[in-house]
Amino acid sequence: MTALLEAAGLTKFFGAVRAAEELSVRVDEGEMVGIVGSNGSGKTTFLNLATGYLAPDRGRILLAGRDTAGLSPRLITRLGVARSFQIPQLYLGLTVLENMLLSLAARSGRGGVWAPLYRAPWTDEGRQILERFGLEAYASRSVGELPEGGRKLLDIALAIALRPRLLLMDEPTAGVSTEDKFEVMDTLVGVLRQGRITTIFVEHDMDVVHRYSRRVLVFDQGLVIADGEPVTVLADADVRKAVLGHA
Ligand SMILES: Nc1ncnc2c1ncn2[C@@H]1O[C@H](COP(=O)(O)OP(=O)(O)O)[C@@H](O)[C@H]1O
Ligand SMILES: [Mg+2]
Repeated sequence: MTALLEAAGLTKFFGAVRAAEELSVRVDEGEMVGIVGSNGSGKTTFLNLATGYLAPDRGRILLAGRDTAGLSPRLITRLGVARSFQIPQLYLGLTVLENMLLSLAARSGRGGVWAPLYRAPWTDEGRQILERFGLEAYASRSVGELPEGGRKLLDIALAIALRPRLLLMDEPTAGVSTEDKFEVMDTLVGVLRQGRITTIFVEHDMDVVHRYSRRVLVFDQGLVIADGEPVTVLADADVRKAVLGHA
């Protein structure tokens, strides 16, 4: 079977800093893969390489068998890869629904400041997506009124609106309080499973990784030092030292 994402020999240096070296990662359709690693271990760089925000020094990335070398982030999104960010990329001055409509407009290729936003099919679909994320009550409120967990969910809902085959999430629960973290994850993982969307998510919280992924990759100084089931991988002393700084 062709992998949905296949990175081979992916290498990226920033000056003397090794952000990725000889990364080879294969992710199949339907997987939900966690990525852990200490600060600066290359997690976000990997997502940037996979989405075309950065070009590798060496190596290649195949999406469903197609080489993405030289493609812009926009084209890679068209090929079915969407992402959310460590810090949500939202239009704070607009309402929750308007943010959603902009995402739907982008998907249709008919976005832009001149385009009418409130088209009936989009508002219907947009409201439906917001409902799946439990955000419908906020539809007409400005994004600034959303609690942090709600902002993270909206950012992911905007990515889902692009109907991706592969979703990459950078720390979906960063900034969300410990009490709300699992609720946010339950909501979003529920939507992802229902849509059968292949997902890779960066997460620093081991409990979250344990609970929501069957496979975890461990990054350390630009290398993948472990790849396997969370129960096994996260119990390993070398992994714990690399990720947490102690065994
Ligand atoms: N655009 C950039 N310019 C220079 N250095 C960068 C850039 N992006 C990342 N780095 C460096 O590459 C290393 C890996 O960064 P990053 O992938 O953001 O780590 P993580 O997401 O695991 O915290 C770090 O040392 C970081 O400072
Ligand atoms: Mg990061």
